[in-house]
Amino acid sequence: MKIAICGKGGCGKSTTTSLLAKELAHAGKKVLVIDSDESNYGLHRQLGMALPKDFTAFFGGKETVLKDMMLSNFAHQFFSGPWSLADIPEGYCGEKDGVMLMASGKIHEANEGCACAMNNVIQQFIANLQLSDGEFALMDMEAGIEHFGRGVDNGVDLLLMIVDPSFESLRLSKKIQELGQSIGKPVWFVLNKVTEDTRDAMLETVAASDKIAAVIPADTKVAAAGLTGTELVGTYPAIQKLARKLMEGGIQ
Ligand SMILES: Nc1ncnc2c1ncn2[C@@H]1O[C@H](COP(=O)(O)OP(=O)(O)OP(=O)(O)O)[C@@H](O)[C@H]1O
Ligand SMILES: [Mg+2]
Repeated sequence: MKIAICGKGGCGKSTTTSLLAKELAHAGKKVLVIDSDESNYGLHRQLGMALPKDFTAFFGGKETVLKDMMLSNFAHQFFSGPWSLADIPEGYCGEKDGVMLMASGKIHEANEGCACAMNNVIQQFIANLQLSDGEFALMDMEAGIEHFGRGVDNGVDLLLMIVDPSFESLRLSKKIQELGQSIGKPVWFVLNKVTEDTRDAMLETVAASDKIAAVIPADTKVAAAGLTGTELVGTYPAIQKLARKLMEGGIQ
C-alpha cells in the first residue's frame, strides 16, 4: 500500500510518518519511507537514521534532470518500467530496524533553482513503484497542497491527512477531501496534538468524521524529541491502532 502523508506546515506529518513506519516494521512489514520534503531535515532524525543521498543524483543530478525535463517538454521518463523495493539503488536508501528511507533531495544552496527536478523524479518513482502484498511505502510530503498540483498523489493508494488543532488545518481538510475525490483516492484524517479542550471541536469540524483513522494526543515526549531533533522511540496506542487498520486493509 502506497500512502501519502499530507497536511499543513507543522501539523505532524513527519512525526506520524516516523511513528507509523516504526510500528509497521515492528509488526514485521516491509516499509519504505520516502522523504519528499525539499526543505526540512527532521524526518531522518526522527527515524534515528542518516539523511540518504538525494535520489535525484541517481539520474544525473538536478541540472541534468531539469535539462531532460525541458528538452522533452516535461515528457521525459526517468523509469523504463515498474520498480520494486529491491530496485532502489544502493547508496540511495538507508535501513534501520526494518524501515528503509530514501529522500527525493534537498535544496542545498541559494540560487540553485526550484525543486521541480526532485519533484518530477519522485512523482514518477511513486507512480512506477510496485509493492507486494504487505509492503508499505509512506511518503512524507512537503507542507500544503502543491503536490496535488504536480500529480504526485496520483501514484498512491491512500491519502492520510494530518490535522492539528487549528482553523487552517480544519479548513484544509475540506480542500484535501475534494482534491482526493477529484483523483479517485480515498482520504483519511488523523487528528494530531489533540487535547481534552480541542477534541470535540476537531471531531465536529474535520471534513468527514467517519473518515478519522486515528486521534493522536498531544504528547510531551513527542514534543521533547521534536525540540532536540532526536529519534522517536516508544509505542503509542493511537499509532498502533492506525497501523492495525492499515494492515487489515480497513481503510478504503
Ligand atoms: N502528537 C504530538 N504531540 C506533541 N508534539 C507533536 C505531536 N506531533 C508533532 N509534534 C511536534 O510538532 C512539531 C511539528 O511536527 P512535524 O515536524 O512532524 O510536523 P510536519 O507536519 O512534518 O512539519 P513540516 O510541515 O515542517 O514538515 C514538532 O516539534 C513535533 O515534535
Ligand atoms: Mg515534516
